[in-house]
Amino acid sequence: MSSVLEAPRPVEAAPRPDPMLPVPFVVERTQRETADTFTLELLPQGGGRFPFDPGQFNMLYVFGIGEVPISISGDPAFPQRLIHTTRVVGAVTKGMGALKRGDALGVRGPFGTGWPVEEAEGCDVVVVAGGIGLAPLRPALYEILAHRERYGRVVLLYGARTPDDILYRKQLHDWRGDFDLDVHVTVDRATSAWRGNVGVVTTLIPRVPFDPYHTVAMVCGPETMMRFTVLELERRGVPAAKVWLSLERNMKCGVGLCGHCQCGPKFICKDGPVFPCVDVWDLMSRREL
Ligand SMILES: Cc1cc2nc3c(=O)[nH]c(=O)nc-3n(C[C@H](O)[C@H](O)[C@H](O)COP(=O)(O)OP(=O)(O)OC[C@H]3O[C@@H](n4cnc5c(N)ncnc54)[C@H](O)[C@@H]3O)c2cc1C
Ligand code: FES
Repeated sequence: MSSVLEAPRPVEAAPRPDPMLPVPFVVERTQRETADTFTLELLPQGGGRFPFDPGQFNMLYVFGIGEVPISISGDPAFPQRLIHTTRVVGAVTKGMGALKRGDALGVRGPFGTGWPVEEAEGCDVVVVAGGIGLAPLRPALYEILAHRERYGRVVLLYGARTPDDILYRKQLHDWRGDFDLDVHVTVDRATSAWRGNVGVVTTLIPRVPFDPYHTVAMVCGPETMMRFTVLELERRGVPAAKVWLSLERNMKCGVGLCGHCQCGPKFICKDGPVFPCVDVWDLMSRREL
C-alpha cells in the first residue's frame, strides 16, 4: 500500500506522434478546381482532430510513389478534416490527382510557420495571391472572416493565368457578396467572355482602397510575382516590415533535419514557409544550398 508521504509520481506526458511517421488518412471527397488543379478532403483513418495554423503545410505521402509538401487550404475552424488543393506538376502530384474516394494517403504534419493573422488585428489586411498561391492563403482568409470585426478593410487581390485557371471561383463570388471583403481578380490572358481585369496582379495594388500605414500584407505566389508585389506595396507606402511571404523549396524531412530546404541560414520547412519579407528578401532569388 502506498504511503501518503511518498513523492508523487511524475505525470506521463501523452506520447507525441513521430513527425517522420506518416499517419494514414482516407480520401473523403475529391473536387476538380481547374484543368490541372484539384482539392482533396481527407479524414484521419482512426478519427480525431487535426488542428493547424493558417499557412502551415503537411507532407503528403502517395503510397508507392512518394511524398511532397502541400499547404493546408481548409478552414482551421474544422480541424476534423484536412483539405489540400494541389496543382499537378510531376509524378507525386499526378498520383495524388488520381486518388478516389476511399483511397488512403499518408500525412505528416502540420509543419512550419503560419500567417500573422493575430498580429494583423486592428489593421487593414491586403492579401495578394498568384495562381495556386491562393490555396495557402485561404485558411488565413477563413480565420479573418470568422473574426471580421477585429480588422479594418480586408482586400483580396488575386491573379490567375486565364479565366479557366481561377481557383475557388464560387467561393470568391460568395465572399464578395456575403462578407465585407473587397475581392479583385485579374487574369494575364483574357478570353472573349471575360469582363474583368486583365494584367498582372501588381497592377491592382495602386487602385484599391486601404490605409498603407496601417496595413499588414500577406503574399503568396511565384517568387517573381512576390518580389514585384513587395516593391509595388512599398511604392504605395506599405513598409516591407509589414509584408509576409510564403516560400517554397524542395523538401524531404519537413522538420529541419535533412538540410534539403536550406536557403542561406534558414530552413524553409522549420523557420518558414511564412516569413516576414525583411527576413528573406536576400534569399528569394537563391535556390537550395
Ligand atoms: C511549403 C510548401 C507548400 C506547398 N504547397 C503547395 C500547395 O498547396 N499546392 C501545390 O500544388 N503545391 C504546393 N507546393 C509545391 C509542391 O510541393 C510541388 O509541386 C511538388 O512537390 C511537386 O512534386 P511532383 O513529384 O509532383 O513533381 P516533381 O517531379 O518533383 O517536379 C515537377 C516540376 O515541378 C518543380 N517543383 C517541384 N517541387 C517544387 C517546389 N516546391 N517549388 C517549385 N517548383 C517545384 C520541379 O522543379 C519540376 O520542374 C508546396 C511546396 C512547399 C515547399
Ligand atoms: S526539408 Fe529537411 S531540413 Fe527542411
